[in-house]
Amino acid sequence: MSDSNVLYSITEAQLNTGLRGFPVGTVRTSRVSPTEGVSYVGYPIADLSKLDPEAVIYLMFNKELPSDEQLTEFKANLAGRAAVDESVFKMLAQLPKTGHPMEWLINGLTLLGMTGKTGDYYEDALNLISRAPALIAAIFRIRSGWGDPIASKPELGLVENFVHMLGVPGGDAERLTRQLRIFYVLHMDHGGGNLSTFSGKAVASGLADIYSSMAAAMAGLSGPRHGKANQNCLAFVQEVGTADHAALEEVIRGKVARRELIYGFGHAVLRAEDPRATIQYAVGQELYPEDPLFQIALALRTVAVKVLKENPRISNPYPNVDAVSGTLLNAAGLLDSDYYTTLFGLARIAGIAAQIVDERLNFRGGKGVAIYRCSFKAENQDPRRLG
Ligand code: MLT
Repeated sequence: MSDSNVLYSITEAQLNTGLRGFPVGTVRTSRVSPTEGVSYVGYPIADLSKLDPEAVIYLMFNKELPSDEQLTEFKANLAGRAAVDESVFKMLAQLPKTGHPMEWLINGLTLLGMTGKTGDYYEDALNLISRAPALIAAIFRIRSGWGDPIASKPELGLVENFVHMLGVPGGDAERLTRQLRIFYVLHMDHGGGNLSTFSGKAVASGLADIYSSMAAAMAGLSGPRHGKANQNCLAFVQEVGTADHAALEEVIRGKVARRELIYGFGHAVLRAEDPRATIQYAVGQELYPEDPLFQIALALRTVAVKVLKENPRISNPYPNVDAVSGTLLNAAGLLDSDYYTTLFGLARIAGIAAQIVDERLNFRGGKGVAIYRCSFKAENQDPRRLG
């Protein structure tokens, strides 16, 4: 019997594979094509990367780009929500410096919730997006001993204000702003099934507020198989240590033979170079062409792909979003890679928040998605008796 509503049926072999390939819901903010990469509400990421981050946030929530007037209004709306309760910074200052910045972010999100939640998913989503830059800038400053948080100037714009509040010692604020505006748009969303988004939506489906849901999402992002990969990719570029193609090829072949990971290459869904990597290579060519680590990342783009392509079991030998992002952040003067995933998180918070609002307030005629509750096949559980 054929039922046109049946999308997939699951075989035994597909259990315990992390739900790969099985749709569990719908998503309106973005779509990932294996060959074209991500688009947001139908617009290719390459086109959106030239826009104001606020325009793209507006797109995530409204499913259309704003007019100039709407954008001005939306920016003012976001700016008006930016104030973070002072007690959040005081409590952050009590956290152990040995904690990873992502652990600080997870804590910081619940602190934002405890000091400022409204209980309305849409209001809280916009408040959170607007307040996250101050939270993350404070995490950088307090945890790395750069000094007290810098007073927010939200009228500057979301990313511009973030760079102002970071106050990177010795940093080039203009270049960093240009780079992070693009970084923010590129990292905002990636379909509905990536681990952080899925986790955040799942937690929100139990009607947890957006701050707790986002803390769960960021816990998902913090793992090395997900957002922490950008930190590991910089270490990988530093470790391979040469931009000479012949020497690099030898290093990569050695790693492949030892079955070691080639960081920054491959993706669960993509089967071509990630357009987010393509855009970042172009940013590097423009802003940091002479940077020695950028030269290595560029060489990897050719050499690693060449070596990985020889292996028929590798379905995607191409660079992903993380291949060069850490290298660019390092070139911009953000030298401690432990913080890189918080920057990924800063951007992804916007996409996840928009998806949570859709799931809670818009889908199923406004009833919202049901509480996530999947099934697991029970194993090794034949009936037994005590005694
Ligand atoms: C990404 O941005 O590439 C992701 O969040 C990872 C994924 O899509 O699974």
